[in-house]
Amino acid sequence: MTRILFYLEDYPHEPWKKALQEVDSEIEFKSYPDWGNAEDDPSYAVVWQAPRGLLKDFPNIKAVFSLGAGVDHILADDTVPATLPIIRMGDDGLKEGIAEYVLMNVLMHHRQMHHLLAQQRTKTWQRVFAKPAASIRVGIMGYGALGKYAAAALLPLGYNLAAWSNSAKAAEAGITHFTGQKELEAFLARTDILVGLLPETDMTIGLMDAKNLSALPQGAAIINAGRGSLIDIPALIEALDAGHLSAATLDVVPEEPLAENDPLWSHEKVVITPHIAAITRTESAANYIIANIKRIEASETPHNMLNRNSGY
Ligand code: NDP
Ligand code: OXD
Repeated sequence: MTRILFYLEDYPHEPWKKALQEVDSEIEFKSYPDWGNAEDDPSYAVVWQAPRGLLKDFPNIKAVFSLGAGVDHILADDTVPATLPIIRMGDDGLKEGIAEYVLMNVLMHHRQMHHLLAQQRTKTWQRVFAKPAASIRVGIMGYGALGKYAAAALLPLGYNLAAWSNSAKAAEAGITHFTGQKELEAFLARTDILVGLLPETDMTIGLMDAKNLSALPQGAAIINAGRGSLIDIPALIEALDAGHLSAATLDVVPEEPLAENDPLWSHEKVVITPHIAAITRTESAANYIIANIKRIEASETPHNMLNRNSGY
């Protein structure tokens, strides 16, 4: 019998119980805080933004699954044992969601939807001419599970694609690869639409500061669906107001939810979405979690285990 401790605030747990038990009827599913008996210790935890200290109270947990691809919410809890394996979400539903979101926003910036919507508000019938996709340089920051999927969605439309990541990548048709800090400036300088799909780590917090924002070409747009801490928001607003950047779509912001009085809400060049670029889909995630539990039980390395040295 595999016992799963489940924590997800503000959303019903029942669909998760059903989905997990449909994949494996032997699963015993308990939502925190109803765990009850100490002797019924759970063997796995599946959590999103659990209260600090929750995991340390269950010493027999063999691994904790993040309900999202990011694990920063688990690492932020300094009581989580350093030896506890942490596993990122990596189901196909998450990849599909990110690909849709990136495609929608790249097209929106390329086809100047901000400008067209502003024209509609003033009842202006004025044609604007879009450049061919091949002349638009899209740069994906973070070429992991999600970055690769987003690139694959953009490729058939003919965009001029590049990706930036930590480690060198094998050559691929249609994508120019840039690696590490030494190639960051060159990557930014060739990017008209920047797509942020980086995890939050010590290296990525504040990376898009005033200096790196100014390395983007005049008129560039930003889409950030990784983590809000990537961008220095005052520097972004300054770059938008000065006309150096043309627009930004932010699915993630440094403090979520975005405060009611935050100037980003009403900035005419900013689109805000409430961290919905990709929402973990119950069925594909249940298959992914159970398959990974089976790997652990068979003493195999689970897929997408956090590397604590790199922080992702
Ligand atoms: P992966 O771990 O698969 O990929 C991370 C990528 O970032 C890798 O390409 C890695 O490089 C690169 N990277 C990490 N640190 C650096 C660095 N310092 N410099 C350069 N490149 C770096 O993650 P996923 O693709 O699965 O997810 C990415 C992030 O997206 C998640 O961590 C989460 O924060 C966010 N997310 C947001 C969602 C939303 O709804 N807005 C939904 C899901 C995820 P390398 O390939 O060399 O290792
Ligand atoms: C995330 C997610 O990590 O929603 O942001 O999966």
